[in-house]
Amino acid sequence: MTAFRPFEHDLIPINEQFKSWKEMTLPPYDKKTADPYTKTRVILMNGIENGSVLMKHALARMIDNDAVKLHLALTRRVESLQQQTINWLNPADQTVVETSISYEQLAVDLTANLAQNERDSYFKQVLDFALLEDFDHLYRYALLYEQLEGGDAEELTRGRTEIKPGRPTRIQHRHPADEMRTHFDREEASLRTRMNYFTIVSAEQQTMLFYKDHGQMYPSTLARQLYTEIADVEQQHVSQYEAVGDPNMTPLEALLLMELNEAYNYFSAYQAEEDPAIKKVWKEFMGQELEHFHMAIALLERYEGGDAREVLGDGIIPSIIELRPNIDYVNAVLQTQADLQPYDMEFVRSENLPADWPSFAFRDRQNGGVPPSDYVEKRRPRGRIRERM
Ligand SMILES: [Fe+2]
Ligand SMILES: [Fe+2]
Ligand SMILES: [Fe+2]
Ligand SMILES: [Fe+2]
Repeated sequence: MTAFRPFEHDLIPINEQFKSWKEMTLPPYDKKTADPYTKTRVILMNGIENGSVLMKHALARMIDNDAVKLHLALTRRVESLQQQTINWLNPADQTVVETSISYEQLAVDLTANLAQNERDSYFKQVLDFALLEDFDHLYRYALLYEQLEGGDAEELTRGRTEIKPGRPTRIQHRHPADEMRTHFDREEASLRTRMNYFTIVSAEQQTMLFYKDHGQMYPSTLARQLYTEIADVEQQHVSQYEAVGDPNMTPLEALLLMELNEAYNYFSAYQAEEDPAIKKVWKEFMGQELEHFHMAIALLERYEGGDAREVLGDGIIPSIIELRPNIDYVNAVLQTQADLQPYDMEFVRSENLPADWPSFAFRDRQNGGVPPSDYVEKRRPRGRIRERM
């Protein structure tokens, strides 16, 4: 098993992290030949960077310390430039729904990887729960792709991730009260648990932002409605996942862990990447993140009087994030957990929900009869997906 040892890699000094526009704008991948997991890594790392930029903006609004704010400004600009470099790897001829299918392929295989490497049983349950929802989104977008663009989603996912119904999107709409989750304890959670937390929050946030920003780009009423329906589920996913993190982390402790998570994700991406130009980006950005990480250690010790060793231990994360097929795992979760729903911060079988569960009335109101996620299944003209099921 490959471990990540953050203190054993070279770092790139902060003043060498700024480049020209031309150096930043790299040629995009070829959508016909790129490996599906290269596409999902581009999505994930774009999301990790957007998460970093947004968190640094939020921290800057809450910390009255000019030295910390200067650090945030300096490194945030790098995060921002990294994000642009990565997102610009997407080719112009990749349609919104094609990109969405890669988003959900990422959601399935990332969540499955994190769940299988999560020691905290409650957090694992939260991951398995949302896994089945993103799995269903993949199926709904595949149907939309067939109807809208005549495309075959299997050609995008290449059989690495199955395309079939999960927990139906129709029953994923819940009252906001049912987004509540209990959180892990920052002192007891392993480093991998805390990395899983930062990774999944950024990934789901990215998915939410993409659907909210692109769902209006199709003239089709069904496409517009389906995007608004699934974007709202992603918003719920962000809410449930952020609730799992310990809010007692101090601001600079959270900053430190987020930088470590960025470096960890780049290291994981670097290990698996086969496209040499993109592999080079992952390696370079890992070096940039390790510099941010060391700077964050110094800030924590200077301004919060914290001890980085107490937060990090030896800093070694014993396993990396691997994007690869999880077909058997997903089917096992599907067989045993499809009918779970959250109630009072736990997960219960649908038959055991009380009659006054707030989400019953809430989802009826949102679905308003036949929801777009059901309609896209009913009206499909050719049914290529059904033939294979
Ligand atoms: Fe970054
Ligand atoms: Fe999803
Ligand atoms: Fe999601
Ligand atoms: Fe960073």
